[in-house]
Amino acid sequence: MGGVGVGMLGSGFIGEFHTLGLRYVPDARVVANADANPERRAAFASRFGSRPFATIEELCADPEVDLVVVSLPNHLHREAVLAAAAAGKAVACTKPLGRNGAEAADMLRAVKAAGVWSAYLENVVFNLDMMRMREMIEAGSIGRVTTVRAREGHSGPHAAHFWNADLAGGGALLDMASHGTEVARYLFGKDLAVRDVFAWGATLVHGARTSGEDNAVMVVRFEDGRAATCDVSWTSKGGLEGRFEVYGDAGRMIHDMGTGSIRAFIERPAGYLGEKADVDTGWVFPVPDEVRVHGHDAMMADVIESFRAGRPPRETLRDGYIVNLVLDAAYRSMRSGCWEPVVVDPAVAG
Ligand SMILES: NC(=O)c1ccc[n+]([C@@H]2O[C@H](COP(=O)([O-])OP(=O)(O)OC[C@H]3O[C@@H](n4cnc5c(N)ncnc54)[C@H](O)[C@@H]3O)[C@@H](O)[C@H]2O)c1
Repeated sequence: MGGVGVGMLGSGFIGEFHTLGLRYVPDARVVANADANPERRAAFASRFGSRPFATIEELCADPEVDLVVVSLPNHLHREAVLAAAAAGKAVACTKPLGRNGAEAADMLRAVKAAGVWSAYLENVVFNLDMMRMREMIEAGSIGRVTTVRAREGHSGPHAAHFWNADLAGGGALLDMASHGTEVARYLFGKDLAVRDVFAWGATLVHGARTSGEDNAVMVVRFEDGRAATCDVSWTSKGGLEGRFEVYGDAGRMIHDMGTGSIRAFIERPAGYLGEKADVDTGWVFPVPDEVRVHGHDAMMADVIESFRAGRPPRETLRDGYIVNLVLDAAYRSMRSGCWEPVVVDPAVAG
């Protein structure tokens, strides 16, 4: 296969990251974009030189589109993946795959039935530090992994759809622990199945804006008793937090993607500093190249190379489905106050 024509569904925040993630991928570019907002789709099209469309269906019907990338709000992921599959197009979808496991299962069934190639877009497991930690685990440097700890936070999402818990499918847990869950699976090794989940969640600050939880903690227990914790917040001031720690019986490793190597004290603003930065003066932590640092370059390269080669990508829709099942169990646990099992349907997961 030669050039790959990408159709970008959604011209907002993550649509831009996914598009910039293609910068260094040879012979792949966004040829079409779709957004319901006319100004956004026009601005995106003029910046990236793509053909703008208003609807999911129009973009999927574009003959120059080989691969549809879903960068839309959560409630549109299922519809978009099913539309791409119906049009016979390969499709890659951002996190969380579905609003719940049932939606994710529908997506898996649709791509299987249509026989189209598919990928799950989970950038955090592609960030360079995270991949280095995985290599060091594989080299045996910290011995047998015992626990993984993920802390993710910021002071609240930028767009209205995240705040509508019914529309989004959940609050901070679904939004952020989707990353931490996959990081835990990546660091432990994906062959290790999740057994059950215990979780707490509450709306501590943003009750006027959302019925969803703005803080949550979940313990994910694997089949052999080892565990990961994901601790998330939409009320954490001071910029994006993304701390991931892995402990073994011969060492530990800590990665903090919220603070790079630059610490700056500035009295005058320098423009954009990084995702969800709460301030633009004082002590700030400018990120040199967020698209690379957050893993989007490596993720999009893997997506395009795998698609071209006709092999599964590193992150599959099956991974997204399992993440959704873990988060479903967490929401059940918040209500029941008990450990809740994670039951994978083999007919869906294969
Ligand atoms: N990997 C990450 O770190 C990461 C970060 C942010 C968001 N996300 C995910 O990306 C998705 C989108 O989030 P975002 O931050 O880009 O939101 P956003 O609001 O910035 O962008 C979404 C875009 O979709 C458009 N849209 C809405 N309804 C539409 C429709 N029916 N048809 C066409 N376009 C429509 C909106 O106009 C908007 O431009 C969410 O699922 C979110 O979880 C992932």
